[in-house]
Amino acid sequence: MTEIVIEAGLTRLVLAPGDDGRLHQLHLGPPEAGPRPDLPLALYPLAHPTFGEEPLREPAVRVTHADGAVSTRLRFDGAEHEGSEHRIRLVDRVAPLAVTLCYRPWPDVDAIEQWVEVANEGDAPCRLHQAASGAPALAGPAPHLTHWGGGWAGEWTPTTEPLGPGTKTVASFGGVRSSLYRPPVVLWSPDGTATEESGTVLAGTVRWGGDVRFDAEVAPHGQHRLIAGPQSVGAERVLDPGEVLVTPTVVWTWSTRGIGEASRRLHRFARRHVVRDGARTRATVANTWEAVFFALDPDGLAAQVDRAAALGCELFLLDDGWFGRRDDDTTSLGDWEVDRRKLPEGLQPLIDLTLAAGMRFGLWVEPEMVNAASDLYAAHPDWVIGEPGRERREERNQLVLDLCRPEVRDFVVATIDRVLGDHPGITYLKWDANRDVTEPGSGALSADRQSHLAWDRVRATREVMAEVARRHPDVELMLCASGGGRSDLDTLRWFHEVWTSDDTDPVDRVRIQWGASHLLPASVLGAHVTRWGGRPVAFGCAVAMSARFGVDLDLTTLTDLESVTVAEAVAAYHRIRDVVQHGDLHRLVSPVGSDRAALAHVSGDRAVVFLYRLPGDPGGGDPVPVPGLDPDIPVTVTDLTPGRPPADRLTTLVDGAVPWPAGDAPVATIVEVTPV
Ligand code: GLA
Repeated sequence: MTEIVIEAGLTRLVLAPGDDGRLHQLHLGPPEAGPRPDLPLALYPLAHPTFGEEPLREPAVRVTHADGAVSTRLRFDGAEHEGSEHRIRLVDRVAPLAVTLCYRPWPDVDAIEQWVEVANEGDAPCRLHQAASGAPALAGPAPHLTHWGGGWAGEWTPTTEPLGPGTKTVASFGGVRSSLYRPPVVLWSPDGTATEESGTVLAGTVRWGGDVRFDAEVAPHGQHRLIAGPQSVGAERVLDPGEVLVTPTVVWTWSTRGIGEASRRLHRFARRHVVRDGARTRATVANTWEAVFFALDPDGLAAQVDRAAALGCELFLLDDGWFGRRDDDTTSLGDWEVDRRKLPEGLQPLIDLTLAAGMRFGLWVEPEMVNAASDLYAAHPDWVIGEPGRERREERNQLVLDLCRPEVRDFVVATIDRVLGDHPGITYLKWDANRDVTEPGSGALSADRQSHLAWDRVRATREVMAEVARRHPDVELMLCASGGGRSDLDTLRWFHEVWTSDDTDPVDRVRIQWGASHLLPASVLGAHVTRWGGRPVAFGCAVAMSARFGVDLDLTTLTDLESVTVAEAVAAYHRIRDVVQHGDLHRLVSPVGSDRAALAHVSGDRAVVFLYRLPGDPGGGDPVPVPGLDPDIPVTVTDLTPGRPPADRLTTLVDGAVPWPAGDAPVATIVEVTPV
């Protein structure tokens, strides 16, 4: 028997072809629990199921071959590895179709990355209805699936559910803001007992900046499976002779040490191997959006800059409203010229002022979109996504530019070149995208290939993003799509952070950031203090400080006390941000189903602990132990809770633990713990 072993630290996958040529999965799990050699190979599940082969099972590949046949049955046709990367070639028994399973182990983060290449090796086209990235077989007595969703301002609302017989599908639609509805990550717990610190869980994330799909299948005799990849509905493809379709990848990590460990591995993977400049410390941002919205004027902005610098912020971000005639969201997307009615001298005086105040300057753009009320749309009505003879429905008064057209890609790249070239000193862009694709059609695609838009538009967008990143290596990019609509580990290759959610009520943010932390490290989760929810500014600061901190407040109307609180928060954040942004996250007390939360970021012998009591919490309760603390080593406790009077500050732990804050919720405690 030829065994193919893919080792990635604590995650191990073993595959082998049977006598009939079919490829079976012998093992996915920790390295120590290998395959049971006593079982006949044919009893092991298939490594990659196809339509028409296994009756009553979900397929990972479905093709209509050139001869009209709809079944695919794959047999092993050789395996090779280059370095640590494995390629296992499977071919159909009749049709000229090759399906190559590809695996890239990441032993430093205990994860395996997987993708599939589907090749039409015949001389006539075939139709590819579905091509998942991976479909590992799983076993276990009581499988549970955890997934997230929630839509605008409700990102990362969790669901954990037991899986009954049949298939549970969770998927996204809309193509642009996919992770607003369905972040591309799930957890599979074989016995449903995994906790943060113990138990077995498989985490999987599809690296794709478009729609994704997870099919969690529970079949008789414990033959379960998790099929993951890009969304297949509406994404059918014609595969021409000689064409090879490469799927997006999916990253798997198998943890026998609970959910927290799986998240920490994904964070390490993101920081080390995905996120642009992943090791770089992120700046503290002062943004104008919730401060002044579209009401921009030179004096008002100068006053915001002045206050932002005085409070210790490092980057001033001018959000929406600076271009065209943009007094609200009904016009001007596409017309990327400074609105001289609002800023008669242009942007440069504001940029210069910001730089002179010792801060960096950032600017908001939404380059993939156009308002119908714009010069761009008047000049190029054919540049948008749409279908002949169908309505062009506007969402937030806008349409999606068709990046499948090369001239539109060139326009977007040139626009960003021009905005940056005309304004020396911009080193940060917030790249937004505020509507989904509906009526998905493209004039760049032939009538029989309209459904190619689903993948081609994502790839075209990636191409544009990659080109912008290549041309402007010194400009940091924030990824925003009506909040966290683009929270995936593919697009982040060109971006430094995401805007986690438009919901900035810190009470909601405790839960949203908690959910987001299952995939994304704190360094990339933009978290700003605003007036949303009418909470105390000190509490808003304490929540934002557990991620990438910023403010989105009218800084000219802060009370004196609030100004002191924000300045204190910025200073405290700068002291702890290396631990918060780059340390290991431990989620200690969950706000899911409760009104309190505790988490700690740990780096070496330093820990920063955040405790939040939310409205409804009665107070009291046991202090929260600091993870990884040796009770015999004396520690220094520094209470960094913004706004807390010096007399009330915590100076020692209670039996190695941090007590919950007293007083009316919402209220927080932040402490830094270091060895003496
Ligand atoms: C979106 C973003 C917000 C803000 C507005 C501006 O909603 O998510 O942060 O930039 O657009 O119009």
